[in-house]
Amino acid sequence: MHDDFNLTPEEIRALEETWLFPTYKRSNLYCAQGDGAYVRDLAGRRYLDFLGGISVNSLGSGHPRIVAALSRQGERLIHCSNLFYHPYQGLLAKRLAQLAGMDRVFFTNSGTEAMEAALKIARAYGNARARGGKTRILSLRNSFHGRTLGALSITTQEKYQAPFRPLIPEVGVVEAFTPQALADAFSDRVCALVLEPVQGEGGVFPLPADFMQAARELCDRHDALLVADEIQCGLGRTGKLFGFEHYGIRPDVITLAKSLAAGYPLGAVLGNARVSGTLGPGDHGTTFGGGPLACRLALEVLAVIEEEGLVAKVKETGDYLLEGLRSLARRHPSIGEVRGLGLMIGVELGDAAKETVKRLLEKGVIANAAHETVLRLLPPFTITRKECDLFLETLDGVLGGIEAEQSPAS
Ligand SMILES: Cc1ncc(COP(=O)(O)O)c(C=O)c1O
Repeated sequence: MHDDFNLTPEEIRALEETWLFPTYKRSNLYCAQGDGAYVRDLAGRRYLDFLGGISVNSLGSGHPRIVAALSRQGERLIHCSNLFYHPYQGLLAKRLAQLAGMDRVFFTNSGTEAMEAALKIARAYGNARARGGKTRILSLRNSFHGRTLGALSITTQEKYQAPFRPLIPEVGVVEAFTPQALADAFSDRVCALVLEPVQGEGGVFPLPADFMQAARELCDRHDALLVADEIQCGLGRTGKLFGFEHYGIRPDVITLAKSLAAGYPLGAVLGNARVSGTLGPGDHGTTFGGGPLACRLALEVLAVIEEEGLVAKVKETGDYLLEGLRSLARRHPSIGEVRGLGLMIGVELGDAAKETVKRLLEKGVIANAAHETVLRLLPPFTITRKECDLFLETLDGVLGGIEAEQSPAS
């Protein structure tokens, strides 16, 4: 088997610079292997991973049950198309629907595609109620839902949208996270309100509780769907299985992806009884979505989360990490707010965020900067207190160095 191309970092970089659209400014890490909460580069150097492939590697790398399911199902059947049955799609749909209190599921290959399906459900719902008169979709300031034209249209950040206008029509933006701002944006023409219970790319902002209550009430009052984008914050990340559970409300539509199949691409849109009639035969489809390997892996992910008690562990470790960060904040003037739920944490660092990420990487720790100014932490659920201590110690040193350089005396 030709499984090792033996490329040097310079060769890898040169190939990409020549042949790829330059959409990514990659950091100087050449990933070769993963092991639990660690990644090794091509030279064999180990990095502590506090980003988890952006909320994907929730079970870390190389979890034995995932590896076993991958190889067993890989040998049996990887793909068969959606023209035929296989054992796992229905099983997974049932499991997810029961966990989320939903009725129907459609599987996709990515989060963005799950959002596209949610948008189609929203429009179909509105059109079935008032043809042409109920097509408005509300999304929140600072949101991120993906990069295809539909998902981009509700990703209300200028830097993502500007080059690609015109976007889809009939999108309204809720400019503040207050019940009043939400009420002002609503009307009977709204077919859906889309939100992330914890905004991720926007800088890790858990939405206020009164805002979420108002979201549910206003959607009910105006016969609109509440769509929760749980792509980043769902499946245990916040210390509850779903982000919306923190607020005591239930949405009508839920989107999932990221960690769902442990790194193999899989997304899902889940809907309750209100929307179960919105997509009929031929209304939507996908070649890859919900294939046997992806679904088999997701069933294993859900079983591991349950059997290893990982949601409770996320809460416990997340509280420990938050406390450690808050204690660092008392000593480091560069740290502003520390916020988050479970193991989805943001640390406001202002201008120092990008430099911090760079220096952490130099010291063998992976994290990233969301919204330019926020150090975002999304470590695997299996991260230990000892690994949190190592992270905190490294961050302490990095911030100390940056602050010393910035202080007037230096
Ligand atoms: C909240 C949220 N929605 C949607 C997406 C898009 O998902 P994907 O990159 O899998 O298409 C992301 C990705 O970061 C996300 O964080």
